[in-house]
Amino acid sequence: MPVITFANTKGGAGKTTMALVTAGELARKGFRVAMLDADPQQWVSRWMTRMAKTSKFSIVADIDADNIEQNIKDLKKRNDYVVVDLPGGVTPLLAKGLGLSDHVFVPVQGCALDAAGGAQVLDILKKLQSECGIHIAHSVALTRVSSIITTRALLAVKGMLAQQGVHVLATPLIERAAYRDMFDAGTLIDALDPEAVSNLAKAQDNARLLVEEITQLVPVPVKVPKAAKTSAKTPAPRKTTAAKKAA
Ligand SMILES: Nc1ncnc2c1ncn2[C@@H]1O[C@H](COP(=O)(O)OP(=O)(O)OP(=O)(O)O)[C@@H](O)[C@H]1O
Ligand SMILES: [Mg+2]
Repeated sequence: MPVITFANTKGGAGKTTMALVTAGELARKGFRVAMLDADPQQWVSRWMTRMAKTSKFSIVADIDADNIEQNIKDLKKRNDYVVVDLPGGVTPLLAKGLGLSDHVFVPVQGCALDAAGGAQVLDILKKLQSECGIHIAHSVALTRVSSIITTRALLAVKGMLAQQGVHVLATPLIERAAYRDMFDAGTLIDALDPEAVSNLAKAQDNARLLVEEITQLVPVPVKVPKAAKTSAKTPAPRKTTAAKKAA
């Protein structure tokens, strides 16, 4: 099942936030999701200890360059989506994580440093293609976008990236208190208190739209039921006498 990875070599670009929002929304939609915490700081795994565990959502801690491949192989069998939160920096773990992904999302806040960190990820993806013949689909995902930013400004950034042949998600993750508060509350945004968090409904709507786009880009392959496979092999029924006469 698809492996989606959030990567930007720059620290604080918004990888963990976007990975958690995505994983949480995928689980809310009914998908089985495993989130791999590959950050040595283990923020997500520490956060998980305060979250109500559900059978749909698991967080796997202590992912490193040595164990990521085996973990992904095992978790893909049991989940609809495997979501990987990579740490910043250019490391062997980054290269391995990217190479094992079906789609890489590069969160970029629009600032130059962030974009440079994103460009390093895009460069590695290009090298994987040119030197190893491995094509990994990827998209830039704008994040921490001000809710009052003009559509024109956003279109300009998208246009610039599109000129370089980089796909950009149409839905940015807006700067919202809910995306910060989920860490303090130790829970996914849907479990936050609407009385206590400003614009929670808008944050939820934003998450729904983002994940709608992600699931369209990276759908779960449809399993063909055994019965359908068998019926496809079943020989056509013999013609009845009436049908023979009509022929
Ligand atoms: N859309 C958003 N709205 C509000 N705050 C955000 C948003 N995205 C990220 N943040 C905040 O920005 C900071 C950095 O985000 P995050 O931890 O997700 O980045 P990161 O790329 O995972 O960092 P690191 O490289 O250290 O792992 C955090 O304080 C987070 O709460
Ligand atoms: Mg992080």
